[in-house]
Amino acid sequence: MRQFLNERLPLTEFSEHLRKPLPKHINLLFSLGSLAMFLLILQAVTGAFLAFYYSPSPEHAHNAVTYISTEVPFGAFVRGLHHWGASAMVIIVVLHLLRVVLYSSYKAPRELTWIFGVLLLLVVLGFGFTGYLLPWDEKAYWATVVGVEIASTAPGLGDFVAKVMRGGTEIGAVTLSRFYALHTIWLPWLAFGLVGVHLFFVRYYGSSGKPENTPEEMKTGKPFYPDQVFEDVVGMLVLFVILATVALFVPVPLEDVADPTNADYDPRPEWYFLFLFQLLKYFQGPFEILGTFVIPTVGMLLLLFLPFLDRSERTVLWKRPIALTVTSVSVVGITLLTLLGASSKKLETTDTAVQEGTQPAQNVQIGGTPEAPKVETVEANEAVFDFQLTEEELEDGAVFDFQLTVEELQ
Ligand code: HEM
Repeated sequence: MRQFLNERLPLTEFSEHLRKPLPKHINLLFSLGSLAMFLLILQAVTGAFLAFYYSPSPEHAHNAVTYISTEVPFGAFVRGLHHWGASAMVIIVVLHLLRVVLYSSYKAPRELTWIFGVLLLLVVLGFGFTGYLLPWDEKAYWATVVGVEIASTAPGLGDFVAKVMRGGTEIGAVTLSRFYALHTIWLPWLAFGLVGVHLFFVRYYGSSGKPENTPEEMKTGKPFYPDQVFEDVVGMLVLFVILATVALFVPVPLEDVADPTNADYDPRPEWYFLFLFQLLKYFQGPFEILGTFVIPTVGMLLLLFLPFLDRSERTVLWKRPIALTVTSVSVVGITLLTLLGASSKKLETTDTAVQEGTQPAQNVQIGGTPEAPKVETVEANEAVFDFQLTEEELEDGAVFDFQLTVEELQ
């Protein structure tokens, strides 16, 4: 069998490539990328099991999640792994990014590895944002209302993006379907594709090692296989044990089913978006766009193009005062905003667009007390399909509902 495969595939070359020595000074921080990959796979596997029972419709989603958490064997555990795994993923990916910054691993020739890494970070955050809506409970609904409203403030394309996200003018059945499709089809394909390219670059350029390596030391460390692989696998097992313990003992929150008429609800995003949420409080009225669009976009673009902005050849951290200062200020700032966001009571900003009545259908403010949108009463087995036309599309402003009952469909 081995000979058969050897004659057909470059297995010997592949094995030699894997056994090539890494740079000498490699520590545990170099396993963070592998841990991120492990979590991505864990999320895919646990998500696939959850999908056996989940149903992406406003009528069934909350019930399905309750059923998974209370009735399905190991359901609460698998949901726990998926839920806490998502937070772990954000933490590990951010730590991996910081490791890359501190050791100057983004510098030439690894600019493309970095750019694909930043795209992966965006995909990871995209998983978080789209997944948050799926349980269709109060926090899911209202955080998404705020999130979409923030997207709508982007100049030019904002309204269009918000409309595409909602699948109409209100958050409802089509929004849930879209978020589910993004969460389970679009983003996973994108993530695994991007990881493939990211890892190709990682292997192609080889590990950057620690900055103190001399040119000779770059080729005299332990081999990637089996030594580094063994350490990575131990790290994955430790991470899994921690996650499994949390999943067993800390229940995943599930609030009451989403109620679009609950005007008193205090919308709150997942903890890793809290800093953005908190940022909104400092920019009101005409300056709101600074918090919703300008600062996050400029921050992301600076991060994306970091290797082209910092072209100095110095790699040792204490010889890079600007990099050290910018990184520390960003980390402290984001941490502070997150803590402030977590401890603050309510988001108190005013959405001028809503006040001026330019967004009639959504009826929701980015912050403060959201106004209740129109209530639609739906019979138990009705609302199988709900195609809504916007008010602009209908000259007289009426909204049509094409609702087919199960009986009608049969
Ligand atoms: C799902 C997300 C990610 C996965 C699965 C992943 C995976 C990996 C792996 C396995 C490595 C090699 C081992 C290591 O150096 O830790 C690596 C290296 C690297 N990653 Fe990532 N990564 C992800 C996100 C990111 C992000 C967000 C960035 C930065 C913005 C980034 C930038 C880099 C760079 C520049 C290297 C080369 C490091 C070197 O040569 O020393 N990665 N990544």
